[in-house]
Amino acid sequence: MNEILIELERRREDARAGGDPSRTEAQHGRGKLTARERIELLLDEDSFEEFGMFVTHRCIDFGMERQRPAGDGVVTGWGTINGRLVYLFSQDFRVLGGSVSATHANKICKIMDMAVQNGAPVIGLNDSGGARIQEGVDSLAGYGDVFQRNIEASGVVPQISVIMGPCAGGAVYSPAMTDFIVMVRDSSYMFVTGPDVVKTVTNEQVTAEELGGAATHTRKSSVADAAFKDDVETLAEVRRLFDFLPLNNRAGVPFRPFYDDATRSEMSLDTLIPESPNQPYDMKELILKVADEGDFFEIQEDFAKNIIVGFIRLEGRTIGVVANQPMVLAGVLDIDSARKAARFVRFCDCFGIPLLTFVDVPGFLPGTSQEYNGVIKHGAKLLFAYGEATVPKVTVVTRKAYGGAYVVMSSKHLRSDINYAWPTSEVAVMGARGAAEIIHRADLGDVDKIASHAAEYEARFANPFVAAERGFIDEVIQPHSTRRRVIRAFASLRGKKRSMPWKKHDNIPL
Ligand code: HXC
Repeated sequence: MNEILIELERRREDARAGGDPSRTEAQHGRGKLTARERIELLLDEDSFEEFGMFVTHRCIDFGMERQRPAGDGVVTGWGTINGRLVYLFSQDFRVLGGSVSATHANKICKIMDMAVQNGAPVIGLNDSGGARIQEGVDSLAGYGDVFQRNIEASGVVPQISVIMGPCAGGAVYSPAMTDFIVMVRDSSYMFVTGPDVVKTVTNEQVTAEELGGAATHTRKSSVADAAFKDDVETLAEVRRLFDFLPLNNRAGVPFRPFYDDATRSEMSLDTLIPESPNQPYDMKELILKVADEGDFFEIQEDFAKNIIVGFIRLEGRTIGVVANQPMVLAGVLDIDSARKAARFVRFCDCFGIPLLTFVDVPGFLPGTSQEYNGVIKHGAKLLFAYGEATVPKVTVVTRKAYGGAYVVMSSKHLRSDINYAWPTSEVAVMGARGAAEIIHRADLGDVDKIASHAAEYEARFANPFVAAERGFIDEVIQPHSTRRRVIRAFASLRGKKRSMPWKKHDNIPL
């Protein structure tokens, strides 16, 4: 008996070692942790239960029969994050470059199937040279099996991809179909075709970092939702993100004890809006002052900064926030901001996360670049996403709510449940000056007349009361009371039940 136990321990040690110690050193030398070190940081202490530690590939081509490392380059299993169940896989770059064989893919599929069955999120720590070249089409089939599971799990359990090394070729499409992609700065990259192919085909010279590093994907492509400085910080932030997410689409938002006052007034909000309507202010200040303990997890912070999206808690429960940011492009809606917010709204709706919308929007960005690139379709995404969302929706207009953008930004007309406005808000078709210039085109050359027409329009519409008279605004509230008002609003909506007519799925403009 003793010998059998010793043999088990020997096999375990062998699997954990991931090959020669020089491979661990090389991984550390690149500033990266190993697959198992990452799991230790991500999960609660001693909570990891591993599956498939002794799985090996079945390839017999190219001498692979002589190289059959236990685990086959990926560590899989389940554990907890702050006590809540999560399934995960962590690719081990030390073992055959973390490349994906049929059996490696099977291991990933197994934990994904269990996650869906048991209603818990999946986190994938990606660090892989891609398809196991020696296996050819078997490897591609394995990827296909993972892709299909990503699709089936979408909207059922949250899926988070953490890119902690290479992720190239078709392999990028598994993370691309998950809910969130988090990257590590300087040590991870994602691209469909690498710098060499790019050089051959387009003659562009570009480094892997420039083509697909964290800066590219958080600022330009919007493929990634966040990036952090190293493995340690990244995994700590993934834990923080996880804490906001429901376990599945039926579980409801998590509750955690809070130490903030639900009736807290913020007198400074009464002076947040500047005197001049053209002067910006920082919408993040409002979000932080409303949130429990000022805790805000922002998604896509560095992309389309004219809109802010992310998670806060109110009375300990997760809320998704969408807010125009007057500091950037005056908070206008455009292609990028509409796409960014639409995807976020849809994520929240999939998983029953209530939506809080702060509105200060002067309209849609004009220009040929916007029109040629399809602002009509992309803008419609946000409109569609808000209109189809059946989760509790609370909206606060702080200043401008103009034109089509007013309707889009979770207006009453899109079945928002409770819509508040600050006294400083202006719910109108457009700004007073623009309106005067159109209605009184004949007076265009006369500066004084246009100014007087603008003043007239402003007096009539640059306020929330016309909309409030029609019931499009439920109540005009004092800015300092915003936290208390939205908390009470969401509390009243906890029993909300609403559904859309039966359909196979909708046809959101893509
Ligand atoms: C088998 C691989 C591998 C792969 C790396 N290795 N990638 N083995 N299949 N795809 C092995 C290496 O042979 C090496 O083994 C060990 O992993 C470490 O790799 P190095 O090259 O020494 O590391 P590094 O210099 O850091 O370079 C990392 C790398 C490079 C940039 C990822 O390995 C690389 O270019 N790999 C091939 C990438 C690729 O073309 N993959 C297929 C993409 S297409 P030894 O034993 O020598 O240490 C794809 C399609 C997916 O993935 C389609 C889905 C539908």
